[in-house]
Amino acid sequence: MLNRRTLLTASAATGLFLAAPPLRASGRVSYRLVMAPTQQKLLGDDKPETALWCFNDSLPGPVLRARQGDVLRVEVENRLPQPTTVHWHGIRLPLAMDGVPGLSQEPIPPGGRFVYEFALPDAGSYWYHPHWGSAEQVGRGLYGALIVAERNAAQAWDREALWVLSDLRLDKEAQITPDFRLPMDLSHAGRLGNTALLNGLLAQNFSVTPGERLRLRLINTANARIFALRFAQHRPWLVALDGHPLPPRQLGEDAPVTLGPGMRADLILDATGKPGERFTVSDSDPRGRRYALLDLEYGPQPVGAKFFGKDLPALPPNPVAEPDIARAERLSLTMSGGAMGQLTEVSVDGKKLGLREAFQQHRVAWALNGQAHTEQQHGPGHGHSPPLFSLSLGKSYIIEVINETMWPHPLHLHGHAFRVLSQDGQALADKPFHDTVLINPRGRAELAFMADNPGDWMLHCHILEHQAAGMMAVVRVA
Ligand code: C2O
Ligand code: CU
Repeated sequence: MLNRRTLLTASAATGLFLAAPPLRASGRVSYRLVMAPTQQKLLGDDKPETALWCFNDSLPGPVLRARQGDVLRVEVENRLPQPTTVHWHGIRLPLAMDGVPGLSQEPIPPGGRFVYEFALPDAGSYWYHPHWGSAEQVGRGLYGALIVAERNAAQAWDREALWVLSDLRLDKEAQITPDFRLPMDLSHAGRLGNTALLNGLLAQNFSVTPGERLRLRLINTANARIFALRFAQHRPWLVALDGHPLPPRQLGEDAPVTLGPGMRADLILDATGKPGERFTVSDSDPRGRRYALLDLEYGPQPVGAKFFGKDLPALPPNPVAEPDIARAERLSLTMSGGAMGQLTEVSVDGKKLGLREAFQQHRVAWALNGQAHTEQQHGPGHGHSPPLFSLSLGKSYIIEVINETMWPHPLHLHGHAFRVLSQDGQALADKPFHDTVLINPRGRAELAFMADNPGDWMLHCHILEHQAAGMMAVVRVA
């Protein structure tokens, strides 16, 4: 089902580093991003070029790099045939820079520009993508990594690498199929691609040097694919989730790193193989069948690396406000709908409809607390959606999420990071901070955070077809 070819001679890592060097002046980093149609040979020389929409003609877009505490300034130019915006996924920033059309800014019209400028309070692995018609715009190739280096941490790895994981749905001519609102995708698992990509290329080999310690940043930018990576014969340490450090935790023998769309993980991997060896990194498809995503390919020479096998210090925590769990107010969020779900009636942008009508008239298939918001609601001239939750600035909350559907949902909150206290009734020992958490089918989770960032923030499923089909809401902090 998934293409896994070795036609390309370029190493999987080379697609990435096309960014012009950033202009740096003490604590300020500036970039320019042009969003435009482009072409790229994805499947090898004997196949046609694939028409894509990209940032700076590159798939993924350029890696934006800055240091914690820097001010990032990005001038965006829209040369797409549609309006757009850019959202900085996971960055805790002022609402006006959040890139949500109708909520935080007017969309950038074709031919228009917008300058985003904000400070970066947290170190870690983040990413950027449009938030206008995201299912189509991200699905055509508009996404890129934003890497924020720690301000005060000694490097404890020999080399850093970035894996931007994604997939595309391609036809026989290597073109992206234009069926962006297929009823099947809206109401089932979302738009799953048929071609997995690593850093914008067909996933194949990743070169490692025997005896090095790698920091591997994984970012899932796919519309709908949930990656569950297993590293044969390796036991990586998990050191950060969604950018936020946690006490290093070594993965069990066959335990996967599971990332829903939008989610990130930072791993430390000791290259324990010998020169010339190969080890498979596998993923599992939605039915749980494993396929080889790529091979770790060991080079011929071991290096005298400095950090291999040493003690692993935790990364310094980000300055996220600690929720006051004992005094937090509890809220509940029920996810419903989708194929094989029980939802029969839904309120669409404030109007009660039967699910069938809601789907026929508005392509709505999902609800949060019985309410669905359509993308029009966040579009130009439609003003704000009424908030699903109105929170008091400075107060702590625990949202209990209950997934009544038969589908997993990566739930994303803008403007904040939350601790995941429990999942499916099990308390989590390290209560990691996340901005996106995967809620299992018929599962639940408790999310705790302090509402410390004023504004109207999106809360939505990051399976972009579920978002398009109503699974989003506004959380007001005032
Ligand atoms: Cu990464 Cu509201 O999105
Ligand atoms: Cu979903």
